[in-house]
Amino acid sequence: MASNMGFIASVTGGLLRRRLSATVLVLGALLLQGLTVEAQADSFDPLESTIESVRAALLGNSTTCRDVVSSFVARIETFNPTINALVSLNPEAFAAADELDQRLAAGDSAGKLFCVPILLKDNYDAVGMNTTGSSIALAGNRPSVDTPAVKAFRDEGAIILGKTNLHEMAMEGLSVSSLGGQTINPYDHTRTPGGSSGGTGASIATSFAVFGTGTDAVNSLRSPASANNLVSVRPTRGLISRSGILPISFTQDTIGPIARNIQDLAVALTVMASVGNDEADNATLLVPPEARDIDYTLNLNDGSLEGLRIGLLDGFWNHTESGETTPVINALASTIDFLKSQGVEIINVTESIYNASAIAKFDVQQYEFKEVMNKYLSSPNLSGNRPTTWDEVYSSGEFLVIPSQYNFMSNSRNSSTADPGFATAQQGIADLKAAINATFVSNELDAVIYPEQKNLVVKIGSPSQAGRNGILAALTGVPVVTVPVGFSPSTDDAPIGVPIGMEILGLPFSESKLLNIANHFTRLRPLRKTPAFANQTVQMGSYLSMPRMQPNMSNIPLAYPVGVLSSQ
Ligand SMILES: *[C@@H]1O[C@H](CO)[C@@H](O)[C@H](O)[C@H]1NC(C)=O
Ligand SMILES: *[C@@H]1O[C@H](CO)[C@@H](O)[C@H](O)[C@H]1NC(C)=O
Ligand SMILES: *[C@@H]1O[C@H](CO)[C@@H](O)[C@H](O)[C@H]1NC(C)=O
Ligand SMILES: *[C@@H]1O[C@H](CO)[C@@H](O)[C@H](O)[C@H]1NC(C)=O
Ligand SMILES: *[C@@H]1O[C@H](CO)[C@@H](O)[C@H](O)[C@H]1NC(C)=O
Ligand SMILES: *[C@@H]1O[C@H](CO)[C@@H](O)[C@H](O)[C@H]1NC(C)=O
Ligand SMILES: *[C@@H]1O[C@H](CO)[C@@H](O)[C@H](O)[C@H]1NC(C)=O
Ligand SMILES: *[C@@H]1O[C@H](CO)[C@@H](O)[C@H](O)[C@H]1NC(C)=O
Ligand SMILES: *[C@@H]1O[C@H](CO)[C@@H](O)[C@H](O)[C@H]1NC(C)=O
Ligand SMILES: *[C@@H]1O[C@H](CO)[C@@H](O)[C@H](O)[C@H]1NC(C)=O
Ligand SMILES: *[C@@H]1O[C@H](CO)[C@@H](O)[C@H](O)[C@H]1NC(C)=O
Repeated sequence: MASNMGFIASVTGGLLRRRLSATVLVLGALLLQGLTVEAQADSFDPLESTIESVRAALLGNSTTCRDVVSSFVARIETFNPTINALVSLNPEAFAAADELDQRLAAGDSAGKLFCVPILLKDNYDAVGMNTTGSSIALAGNRPSVDTPAVKAFRDEGAIILGKTNLHEMAMEGLSVSSLGGQTINPYDHTRTPGGSSGGTGASIATSFAVFGTGTDAVNSLRSPASANNLVSVRPTRGLISRSGILPISFTQDTIGPIARNIQDLAVALTVMASVGNDEADNATLLVPPEARDIDYTLNLNDGSLEGLRIGLLDGFWNHTESGETTPVINALASTIDFLKSQGVEIINVTESIYNASAIAKFDVQQYEFKEVMNKYLSSPNLSGNRPTTWDEVYSSGEFLVIPSQYNFMSNSRNSSTADPGFATAQQGIADLKAAINATFVSNELDAVIYPEQKNLVVKIGSPSQAGRNGILAALTGVPVVTVPVGFSPSTDDAPIGVPIGMEILGLPFSESKLLNIANHFTRLRPLRKTPAFANQTVQMGSYLSMPRMQPNMSNIPLAYPVGVLSSQ
């Protein structure tokens, strides 16, 4: 069988599919059918794939880059209708794969991400696809320049498969939007996937790509990792340029990767951070030179957990037991026992300043939103039929705001960084930064931990994604790595339970240390599980071109009417 496949490949030069014209389409399709069946036996399975497994399959000649891409597209076609996680597929992905196959045939497989299929949250500018923020109002927003991290991905050989759904313009954590509809949690179809990068979380959990990207103004890289049994890193503010990213807040926005394991997460972070300083995002100019040009994969396995001193932020727990909180309390309690068994010293940090609800009053999104959004929308690097100001988006009638954010959205139109509240908040943030530093120094801590969310990720139709703890890192700009700590008990809706995640927070630019801790933890306590509904190998498809993605917009809960911006 394998030799038959070799025969077809040699007759066609392995690159036939690129050259298919309409006249040979039928013949081509037949040949492809043959290839598909043959390739299935020893070829590439995207299910739980890694950067390394893609590379090994390509270099072992058991597959082509085009087939790697096709196998992911087949999973997307099969399982996306259930979870509605994508907004668009990249029409140029197969052409990019064919180019890599030509390089491979010439013996060139250079690139940290050679033929690694990835997905981008749809607030990243990437040439060839519109940047919609999952809002109908921005459906025609066409970038002519890649955001620097996307350019870096392409330079390392990554294949951009498409764009994922997000909570409309990344403004909350339910991952419901006017353009993408409601994304559904792959582990429990009655629940949300966290957010705002919920489409990326649901997609990566279901092996629609090797890894994906998110953004985080408060919780958005961490809540989807927590809710989808994944790992993520929210990098220190300034580490990765945010130019060419649909913004919310100059102070709080960060961008980063979401993956299934720490090794892949570290590669992705290394590539994204390789962009370095960018005049178009002045926060990057404050990064000390010693925090630049780091390969985050290098010391992942160094040392051990033994002897680490880790703080618990007790105020970030909800100690009131209930169906939604007890599974989180229990998962964290057993994690603490496990860490102790590995020789970790646990320090209970009980200072009252660490209260996620209380420090939320220093959130500056409302003051910065209009200014950064207007700056983004008027960028010369955008074209197409689109609004160029935030006011136009707001008044378009093609914009989904959840009722719990009517006030925020309306206030953002008349708020600015000149408001007295902004200065007060900035003072509060400075105090928090000093408190974190003091807590680390006085307790000699390596990291602090707490549940990402005090309760299970909320049900579809809920008023908000309540109970999350992302605000501390969001305000202070310190880094966090999120890891799985278990599942709630299994139920009819959640056959293997609802995933639960933990944040590991450190001092500025301690990404290497946090990834090292997370790597030891996830290897010693492997908790990654494929969602039950998608735990199967899918027959690879044969595609002459990329199928068109049709998000389900008719599943938006009635509680969130599109185009309604206030309760009166
Ligand atoms: C894969 O194919 C290339 C080019 O034909 C060859 O040089 C290489 O040895 C092959 N690798 C394996 C593992 O068979
Ligand atoms: C626009 O693109 C150019 C590269 O073509 C880049 O240097 C510049 O920073 C971009 N501007 C913004 C606002 O992103
Ligand atoms: C950096 O950019 C922000 C947002 O554009 C601006 O508010 C701030 O003044 C700039 N800071 C410096 C030091 O240029
Ligand atoms: C804590 O959990 C209880 C029980 O689920 C809930 O009623 C309460 O609102 C929660 N408190 C916070 C601060 O999340
Ligand atoms: C930390 O201290 C608080 C307050 O005394 C207590 O309620 C909590 O149980 C402690 N946590 C641990 C893990 O010991
Ligand atoms: C945390 O802050 C909230 C809001 O300010 C307050 O209601 C709550 O009592 C505080 N929790 C604790 C444990 O102090
Ligand atoms: C992308 O934007 C362009 C320019 O506004 C528009 O013509 C095109 O229809 C948009 N694509 C999609 C899929 O909406
Ligand atoms: C915002 O300001 C405009 C005038 O600049 C005013 O018409 C509008 O009512 C204000 N909106 C709110 C929500 O205060
Ligand atoms: C952290 O605290 C130490 C000890 O008080 C101090 O030397 C250092 O400057 C502080 N660092 C920051 C960033 O505030
Ligand atoms: C997924 O399927 C494999 C193979 O059938 C099985 O070993 C594994 O337990 C399944 N995982 C889950 C989470 O159901
Ligand atoms: C879209 O979602 C609705 C509501 O969940 C569902 O009834 C419908 O079948 C879905 N449509 C498609 C094409 O999957």
